[in-house]
Amino acid sequence: MNTLKNDLLLRTLRGEKTERTPVWMMRQAGRYLPDYRILREKYSFFERCQTPELATEITIQPVEQIGVDAAIIFSDILVVPQAMGMEVQMVESKGPLLPDPIKGMADLNRLALPDVEEKLGYVFDALRLTKKTLAGRVPLIGFAGAPWTLLCYMVQGKGSKTFDEAKAFCYTQPEAAHRLLQMITDTTIAYLRGQAAAGADVVQIFDSWGGLLGPEDFEQLSLKYIRQIVAALKDEVLTIVFAKGAWHSLEGMAATGANGLGIDWCIRPQMARKLAGPTVALQGNFDPAKLLSPIPVIEREVRAMLDDFTGGPGRNAGAHGYIANLGHGILPNVPVEHALAFVETVKNYQYEPAR
Ligand code: CP3
Repeated sequence: MNTLKNDLLLRTLRGEKTERTPVWMMRQAGRYLPDYRILREKYSFFERCQTPELATEITIQPVEQIGVDAAIIFSDILVVPQAMGMEVQMVESKGPLLPDPIKGMADLNRLALPDVEEKLGYVFDALRLTKKTLAGRVPLIGFAGAPWTLLCYMVQGKGSKTFDEAKAFCYTQPEAAHRLLQMITDTTIAYLRGQAAAGADVVQIFDSWGGLLGPEDFEQLSLKYIRQIVAALKDEVLTIVFAKGAWHSLEGMAATGANGLGIDWCIRPQMARKLAGPTVALQGNFDPAKLLSPIPVIEREVRAMLDDFTGGPGRNAGAHGYIANLGHGILPNVPVEHALAFVETVKNYQYEPAR
Protein backbone atom coordinates (compact mmCIF):
# COMPACT_ATOMS: atom_id res chain seq x y z
CA MET A 1 0.00 0.00 0.00
CA ASN A 2 2.92 2.27 0.76
CA THR A 3 4.03 3.55 -2.58
CA LEU A 4 5.76 6.65 -1.31
CA LYS A 5 7.81 8.79 -3.66
CA ASN A 6 9.86 10.04 -0.72
CA ASP A 7 10.36 7.52 2.07
CA LEU A 8 13.64 8.91 3.48
CA LEU A 9 12.11 9.27 6.95
CA LEU A 10 10.76 5.72 7.03
CA ARG A 11 14.01 4.17 5.82
CA THR A 12 15.98 6.17 8.38
CA LEU A 13 13.68 5.00 11.17
CA ARG A 14 14.09 1.40 10.00
CA GLY A 15 17.86 1.78 10.35
CA GLU A 16 18.58 1.81 6.62
CA LYS A 17 21.11 4.08 4.94
CA THR A 18 19.68 6.81 2.75
CA GLU A 19 21.08 9.09 0.06
CA ARG A 20 20.48 12.11 2.29
CA THR A 21 19.16 13.10 5.71
CA PRO A 22 15.38 13.54 5.96
CA VAL A 23 14.15 16.83 7.42
CA TRP A 24 10.91 18.07 8.99
CA MET A 25 10.11 20.56 11.77
CA MET A 26 8.12 20.01 14.93
CA ARG A 27 5.03 22.26 14.91
CA GLN A 28 5.62 22.91 11.21
CA ALA A 29 1.88 23.26 10.57
CA GLY A 30 1.19 26.53 12.31
CA ARG A 31 1.39 30.19 13.00
CA TYR A 32 4.61 31.16 11.18
CA LEU A 33 2.80 30.38 7.88
CA PRO A 34 0.69 33.25 6.47
CA ASP A 35 -1.80 30.80 4.92
CA TYR A 36 -2.36 29.21 8.34
CA ARG A 37 -3.00 32.63 9.85
CA ILE A 38 -5.70 33.29 7.25
CA LEU A 39 -7.59 30.12 8.25
CA ARG A 40 -7.09 31.06 11.89
CA GLU A 41 -9.10 34.26 11.36
CA LYS A 42 -12.07 32.27 10.10
CA TYR A 43 -12.24 29.16 12.26
CA SER A 44 -11.65 28.41 15.93
CA PHE A 45 -8.75 26.16 16.91
CA PHE A 46 -10.87 23.07 17.54
CA GLU A 47 -12.94 23.73 14.40
CA ARG A 48 -9.66 23.58 12.49
CA CYS A 49 -8.80 20.29 14.22
CA GLN A 50 -12.25 18.74 13.83
CA THR A 51 -12.87 19.59 10.16
CA PRO A 52 -10.89 17.06 8.09
CA GLU A 53 -10.72 19.38 5.05
CA LEU A 54 -9.15 22.17 7.15
CA ALA A 55 -6.81 19.84 9.05
CA THR A 56 -5.67 18.34 5.72
CA GLU A 57 -5.07 21.74 4.15
CA ILE A 58 -3.01 22.92 7.16
CA THR A 59 -1.07 19.65 7.31
CA ILE A 60 -0.03 19.93 3.67
CA GLN A 61 0.91 23.64 3.71
CA PRO A 62 4.50 23.07 4.96
CA VAL A 63 4.99 20.16 2.52
CA GLU A 64 4.16 22.42 -0.42
CA GLN A 65 5.59 25.68 0.87
CA ILE A 66 8.70 24.60 2.78
CA GLY A 67 9.49 21.25 1.15
CA VAL A 68 9.76 19.12 4.29
CA ASP A 69 10.20 15.36 3.92
CA ALA A 70 7.19 14.47 6.10
CA ALA A 71 3.75 15.80 6.97
CA ILE A 72 2.52 15.83 10.58
CA ILE A 73 -1.22 15.76 11.02
CA PHE A 74 -2.72 19.05 12.25
CA SER A 75 -4.32 18.33 15.63
CA ASP A 76 -3.28 18.78 19.27
CA ILE A 77 -2.17 16.62 22.16
CA LEU A 78 -5.10 17.97 24.23
CA VAL A 79 -7.75 16.24 22.10
CA VAL A 80 -7.09 13.18 24.29
CA PRO A 81 -8.15 14.79 27.62
CA GLN A 82 -11.11 16.21 25.68
CA ALA A 83 -12.08 12.74 24.49
CA MET A 84 -11.76 11.46 28.07
CA GLY A 85 -14.41 13.98 29.14
CA MET A 86 -12.56 17.17 30.10
CA GLU A 87 -13.37 20.61 28.77
CA VAL A 88 -10.38 22.12 26.92
CA GLN A 89 -10.35 25.71 25.66
CA MET A 90 -7.65 27.27 23.49
CA VAL A 91 -7.41 30.87 24.67
CA GLU A 92 -6.08 33.42 22.17
CA SER A 93 -2.42 34.33 22.94
CA LYS A 94 -2.59 32.45 26.27
CA GLY A 95 -2.68 28.80 25.27
CA PRO A 96 -4.72 25.92 26.65
CA LEU A 97 -7.16 26.21 29.55
CA LEU A 98 -8.86 23.26 31.26
CA PRO A 99 -11.32 25.05 33.56
CA ASP A 100 -12.18 22.01 35.69
CA PRO A 101 -8.85 20.28 36.40
CA ILE A 102 -8.31 16.97 38.21
CA LYS A 103 -7.59 17.52 41.90
CA GLY A 104 -8.01 14.08 43.45
CA MET A 105 -9.17 10.50 43.15
CA ALA A 106 -12.86 11.49 43.10
CA ASP A 107 -12.31 13.56 39.94
CA LEU A 108 -11.14 10.48 38.07
CA ASN A 109 -14.74 9.26 38.08
CA ARG A 110 -15.52 12.12 35.70
CA LEU A 111 -13.15 10.60 33.16
CA ALA A 112 -13.95 7.81 30.74
CA LEU A 113 -11.84 5.46 28.67
CA PRO A 114 -13.33 6.69 25.42
CA ASP A 115 -14.32 4.76 22.33
CA VAL A 116 -11.68 6.40 20.14
CA GLU A 117 -13.63 5.85 16.93
CA GLU A 118 -16.55 7.75 18.38
CA LYS A 119 -14.66 10.58 20.13
CA LEU A 120 -11.57 10.97 17.96
CA GLY A 121 -12.87 9.63 14.65
CA TYR A 122 -12.42 13.14 13.21
CA VAL A 123 -8.63 12.75 13.59
CA PHE A 124 -8.78 9.42 11.76
CA ASP A 125 -10.90 11.06 9.04
CA ALA A 126 -8.33 13.86 8.74
CA LEU A 127 -5.50 11.31 8.47
CA ARG A 128 -7.35 9.38 5.75
CA LEU A 129 -8.10 12.54 3.77
CA THR A 130 -4.53 13.83 4.19
CA LYS A 131 -3.06 10.51 3.12
CA LYS A 132 -5.22 10.56 0.01
CA THR A 133 -4.42 14.20 -0.80
CA LEU A 134 -0.68 13.70 -0.27
CA ALA A 135 -0.84 10.92 -2.86
CA GLY A 136 2.46 9.46 -1.69
CA ARG A 137 4.50 12.67 -1.82
CA VAL A 138 5.87 12.23 1.73
CA PRO A 139 5.13 10.03 4.77
CA LEU A 140 2.45 11.09 7.25
CA ILE A 141 3.23 11.40 10.97
CA GLY A 142 0.55 10.96 13.65
CA PHE A 143 1.11 11.88 17.27
CA ALA A 144 -0.06 11.97 20.86
CA GLY A 145 1.11 13.56 24.09
CA ALA A 146 2.98 11.35 26.55
CA PRO A 147 0.87 10.43 29.61
CA TRP A 148 3.04 12.57 31.92
CA THR A 149 2.68 15.70 29.74
CA LEU A 150 -1.08 15.19 29.47
CA LEU A 151 -1.33 14.72 33.26
CA CYS A 152 0.46 18.08 33.63
CA TYR A 153 -2.31 19.88 31.73
CA MET A 154 -5.17 17.80 33.19
CA VAL A 155 -4.09 18.58 36.79
CA GLN A 156 -2.58 22.07 36.46
CA GLY A 157 -5.40 23.17 34.15
CA LYS A 158 -3.13 25.39 32.06
CA GLY A 159 0.45 25.89 30.93
CA SER A 160 3.10 26.46 33.59
CA LYS A 161 6.89 26.84 33.86
CA THR A 162 7.09 24.37 36.76
CA PHE A 163 3.81 22.37 36.70
CA ASP A 164 4.10 22.44 40.49
CA GLU A 165 0.45 21.52 41.10
CA ALA A 166 0.75 18.53 38.78
CA LYS A 167 3.88 17.42 40.64
CA ALA A 168 2.26 17.99 44.04
CA PHE A 169 -0.64 15.78 42.89
CA CYS A 170 1.80 12.98 42.01
CA TYR A 171 3.79 13.34 45.24
CA THR A 172 0.79 13.59 47.61
CA GLN A 173 -1.67 11.29 45.82
CA PRO A 174 0.48 8.73 44.03
CA GLU A 175 -2.30 6.20 43.75
CA ALA A 176 -4.59 8.64 41.94
CA ALA A 177 -1.68 9.85 39.79
CA HIS A 178 -0.81 6.35 38.61
CA ARG A 179 -4.45 5.52 37.99
CA LEU A 180 -4.74 8.63 35.83
CA LEU A 181 -1.47 7.89 33.97
CA GLN A 182 -2.72 4.37 33.24
CA MET A 183 -6.06 5.67 31.94
CA ILE A 184 -4.26 8.09 29.62
CA THR A 185 -1.90 5.30 28.51
CA ASP A 186 -4.75 2.93 27.63
CA THR A 187 -6.55 5.67 25.72
CA THR A 188 -3.37 6.66 23.89
CA ILE A 189 -2.63 3.10 22.78
CA ALA A 190 -6.11 2.78 21.25
CA TYR A 191 -5.81 6.26 19.74
CA LEU A 192 -2.41 5.69 18.12
CA ARG A 193 -3.52 2.26 16.84
CA GLY A 194 -6.43 4.06 15.19
CA GLN A 195 -4.06 6.62 13.69
CA ALA A 196 -1.87 3.86 12.23
CA ALA A 197 -4.96 2.15 10.78
CA ALA A 198 -6.07 5.47 9.27
CA GLY A 199 -2.76 5.92 7.44
CA ALA A 200 -0.11 7.33 9.80
CA ASP A 201 3.25 5.88 8.73
CA VAL A 202 4.98 7.01 11.93
CA VAL A 203 3.69 8.15 15.33
CA GLN A 204 5.54 10.54 17.61
CA ILE A 205 4.98 10.71 21.36
CA PHE A 206 5.53 14.26 22.65
CA ASP A 207 6.70 14.44 26.28
CA SER A 208 7.16 18.20 26.30
CA TRP A 209 7.45 18.35 30.09
CA GLY A 210 9.53 15.21 30.66
CA GLY A 211 12.49 17.46 31.51
CA LEU A 212 10.74 18.77 34.61
CA LEU A 213 11.29 15.40 36.28
CA GLY A 214 14.52 14.06 37.75
CA PRO A 215 15.74 10.74 36.36
CA GLU A 216 14.00 8.56 38.97
CA ASP A 217 10.68 10.42 38.75
CA PHE A 218 10.95 10.37 34.95
CA GLU A 219 11.24 6.58 35.11
CA GLN A 220 8.25 6.20 37.44
CA LEU A 221 5.90 8.89 36.11
CA SER A 222 6.77 8.97 32.43
CA LEU A 223 8.99 6.29 30.93
CA LYS A 224 7.05 3.45 32.56
CA TYR A 225 3.98 4.48 30.54
CA ILE A 226 5.81 5.42 27.33
CA ARG A 227 7.31 1.91 27.43
CA GLN A 228 3.81 0.40 27.41
CA ILE A 229 2.76 2.57 24.46
CA VAL A 230 5.82 1.75 22.35
CA ALA A 231 5.54 -1.96 23.17
CA ALA A 232 1.89 -1.99 22.10
CA LEU A 233 2.58 -0.22 18.79
CA LYS A 234 5.93 -1.71 17.81
CA ASP A 235 4.56 -4.20 15.32
CA GLU A 236 2.01 -1.81 13.81
CA VAL A 237 3.78 1.48 13.11
CA LEU A 238 7.17 3.22 13.37
CA THR A 239 7.58 5.19 16.60
CA ILE A 240 9.50 8.29 17.70
CA VAL A 241 9.75 9.35 21.36
CA PHE A 242 10.56 12.99 22.10
CA ALA A 243 10.98 13.80 25.78
CA LYS A 244 12.26 17.35 25.93
CA GLY A 245 14.98 17.87 28.53
CA ALA A 246 15.08 14.20 29.55
CA TRP A 247 18.45 13.46 27.90
CA HIS A 248 19.54 11.69 31.11
CA SER A 249 17.17 8.87 30.18
CA LEU A 250 18.13 8.38 26.52
CA GLU A 251 19.43 4.91 27.32
CA GLY A 252 16.11 3.92 28.88
CA MET A 253 14.17 5.49 26.03
CA ALA A 254 16.22 3.55 23.47
CA ALA A 255 15.46 0.37 25.42
CA THR A 256 11.72 0.89 24.81
CA GLY A 257 12.36 -0.24 21.24
CA ALA A 258 11.30 3.09 19.73
CA ASN A 259 12.66 3.58 16.20
CA GLY A 260 13.64 7.21 16.79
CA LEU A 261 14.41 9.50 19.72
CA GLY A 262 14.02 13.27 19.63
CA ILE A 263 16.56 15.43 21.41
CA ASP A 264 16.65 19.12 22.24
CA TRP A 265 19.58 21.50 21.74
CA CYS A 266 20.95 21.20 25.27
CA ILE A 267 22.89 18.02 24.55
CA ARG A 268 25.74 17.48 22.08
CA PRO A 269 24.90 15.01 19.30
CA GLN A 270 27.94 12.86 20.15
CA MET A 271 26.83 12.56 23.78
CA ALA A 272 23.25 11.73 22.74
CA ARG A 273 24.57 9.00 20.44
CA LYS A 274 26.72 7.59 23.24
CA LEU A 275 23.75 7.46 25.61
CA ALA A 276 21.19 6.18 23.09
CA GLY A 277 23.44 3.49 21.62
CA PRO A 278 24.22 2.76 17.98
CA THR A 279 20.91 1.55 16.51
CA VAL A 280 18.09 4.01 17.26
CA ALA A 281 17.65 7.01 14.92
CA LEU A 282 18.22 10.42 16.52
CA GLN A 283 16.06 13.41 15.63
CA GLY A 284 16.80 17.06 16.32
CA ASN A 285 18.23 19.24 17.60
CA PHE A 286 18.43 22.80 16.21
CA ASP A 287 17.58 25.51 18.73
CA PRO A 288 14.26 26.88 17.39
CA ALA A 289 15.28 30.42 18.38
CA LYS A 290 18.33 30.14 16.09
CA LEU A 291 15.93 30.30 13.15
CA LEU A 292 15.71 33.99 14.03
CA SER A 293 19.40 34.42 13.04
CA PRO A 294 20.40 35.88 9.65
CA ILE A 295 20.09 33.27 6.90
CA PRO A 296 23.89 32.79 6.39
CA VAL A 297 24.19 32.01 10.10
CA ILE A 298 21.35 29.49 9.88
CA GLU A 299 23.07 27.82 6.92
CA ARG A 300 26.40 27.60 8.75
CA GLU A 301 24.88 26.30 11.99
CA VAL A 302 22.73 23.70 10.23
CA ARG A 303 25.79 22.38 8.41
CA ALA A 304 27.66 22.19 11.72
CA MET A 305 24.75 20.23 13.19
CA LEU A 306 24.80 17.80 10.26
CA ASP A 307 28.57 17.38 10.64
CA ASP A 308 28.08 16.53 14.31
CA PHE A 309 25.33 13.98 13.76
CA THR A 310 26.73 12.24 10.72
CA GLY A 311 30.43 12.29 11.40
CA GLY A 312 30.92 15.09 8.90
CA PRO A 313 32.00 15.34 5.30
CA GLY A 314 35.29 13.54 4.85
CA ARG A 315 34.61 11.29 7.78
CA ASN A 316 31.95 9.66 5.58
CA ALA A 317 29.64 8.24 8.19
CA GLY A 318 27.05 9.00 5.51
CA ALA A 319 23.40 9.71 6.00
CA HIS A 320 22.06 7.20 8.40
CA GLY A 321 20.51 7.11 11.82
CA TYR A 322 19.67 10.79 11.76
CA ILE A 323 16.58 12.95 11.09
CA ALA A 324 17.16 16.70 10.90
CA ASN A 325 14.64 18.67 12.95
CA LEU A 326 14.41 21.39 15.55
CA GLY A 327 14.94 20.64 19.23
CA HIS A 328 11.36 21.82 19.93
CA GLY A 329 8.52 23.42 17.98
CA ILE A 330 9.09 26.20 15.46
CA LEU A 331 8.37 29.64 16.93
CA PRO A 332 5.50 31.70 15.47
CA ASN A 333 7.76 34.69 14.73
CA VAL A 334 10.15 32.80 12.44
CA PRO A 335 10.16 34.28 8.91
CA VAL A 336 9.11 31.73 6.28
CA GLU A 337 12.40 32.25 4.36
CA HIS A 338 14.32 31.21 7.46
CA ALA A 339 12.34 27.97 7.79
CA LEU A 340 13.04 27.42 4.10
CA ALA A 341 16.77 28.02 4.62
CA PHE A 342 16.78 25.37 7.37
CA VAL A 343 15.18 22.75 5.13
CA GLU A 344 17.18 23.67 2.02
CA THR A 345 20.50 23.52 3.86
CA VAL A 346 19.77 19.97 5.00
CA LYS A 347 18.75 18.94 1.49
CA ASN A 348 21.88 20.46 -0.08
CA TYR A 349 24.33 19.03 2.44
CA GLN A 350 26.90 16.93 0.63
CA TYR A 351 28.24 13.67 1.96
CA GLU A 352 31.56 12.25 1.03
CA PRO A 353 31.01 8.95 -0.75
CA ALA A 354 31.70 5.99 1.55
CA ARG A 355 35.16 4.55 1.13
O1 CP3 B 1 3.50 19.77 14.56
C1 CP3 B 1 2.50 20.22 13.99
O2 CP3 B 1 2.54 21.22 13.26
C2 CP3 B 1 1.19 19.51 14.17
C3 CP3 B 1 0.26 20.13 15.03
C4 CP3 B 1 0.51 20.27 16.53
C5 CP3 B 1 -0.13 21.28 17.29
N1 CP3 B 1 0.13 21.04 18.61
C6 CP3 B 1 -0.98 22.36 16.76
C7 CP3 B 1 -1.16 23.58 17.55
C8 CP3 B 1 1.23 19.46 17.42
C9 CP3 B 1 2.15 18.27 17.14
C10 CP3 B 1 0.98 19.95 18.73
C11 CP3 B 1 1.54 19.33 19.94
C12 CP3 B 1 1.39 20.01 21.23
N2 CP3 B 1 0.33 20.75 21.70
C13 CP3 B 1 2.34 19.92 22.28
C14 CP3 B 1 3.62 19.11 22.22
C15 CP3 B 1 4.69 19.75 21.43
C16 CP3 B 1 5.31 20.98 22.06
O3 CP3 B 1 5.36 21.99 21.37
O4 CP3 B 1 5.76 20.87 23.21
C17 CP3 B 1 1.86 20.67 23.36
C18 CP3 B 1 2.54 20.87 24.70
C19 CP3 B 1 0.58 21.18 22.99
C20 CP3 B 1 -0.37 22.00 23.81
C21 CP3 B 1 -0.63 23.31 23.19
N3 CP3 B 1 -1.40 23.52 22.06
C22 CP3 B 1 -0.14 24.59 23.61
C23 CP3 B 1 0.76 24.81 24.80
C24 CP3 B 1 -0.65 25.54 22.71
C25 CP3 B 1 -0.51 27.05 22.75
C26 CP3 B 1 0.84 27.54 22.54
C27 CP3 B 1 1.54 26.99 21.31
O5 CP3 B 1 2.56 26.31 21.52
O6 CP3 B 1 1.10 27.21 20.20
C28 CP3 B 1 -1.38 24.84 21.73
C29 CP3 B 1 -2.07 25.45 20.57
C30 CP3 B 1 -1.66 24.96 19.23
N4 CP3 B 1 -1.51 23.67 18.88
C31 CP3 B 1 -1.40 25.78 18.10
C32 CP3 B 1 -1.10 24.92 17.04
C33 CP3 B 1 -0.79 25.30 15.62
C34 CP3 B 1 -1.49 27.30 18.06
C35 CP3 B 1 -2.91 27.67 17.89
C36 CP3 B 1 -3.03 28.99 17.24
O7 CP3 B 1 -2.88 29.97 17.95
O8 CP3 B 1 -3.27 29.00 16.04
